[in-house]
Amino acid sequence: MSLMNWTDSLSVNIREIDDQHKKLVGILNELHDAMKAGQGAKMTGNVLTELIKYVGTHFATEEKYFAQYAYPDTVKHKAEHDDLTKKALDLQKQFQDGKPVLTVELLNFLKNWLTNHIMGTDKKYSPYLNSKGLV
Ligand code: FEO
Repeated sequence: MSLMNWTDSLSVNIREIDDQHKKLVGILNELHDAMKAGQGAKMTGNVLTELIKYVGTHFATEEKYFAQYAYPDTVKHKAEHDDLTKKALDLQKQFQDGKPVLTVELLNFLKNWLTNHIMGTDKKYSPYLNSKGLV
């Protein structure tokens, strides 16, 4: 069973961003599967690296649009991005140092963060960016 499923309730009404969120959900599920299947540290580490890399790509996309359209809530939103990026890089470092950080709790933390961030923070930009023609 997947850790997280995409549903339309997660949509921010911008196709490119929805596609990126779907991909993030997919990589998170891959990480969950790798962990459940007891795959080796190398394989799991590769998926963790992929997730962190794609999170960076995704945040950069949103922030590009914030700058392009002068989104008024940029600073607060970016602070959430920066906070997760810092946490994720710290986890990756611990993992690379051989610490057992990949746990069900961690995956649930990532799942909850993603869900809460999309539902509570990302969705706030939809009306503004939609009004600028971004759909
Ligand atoms: Fe979709 Fe603000 O991250």
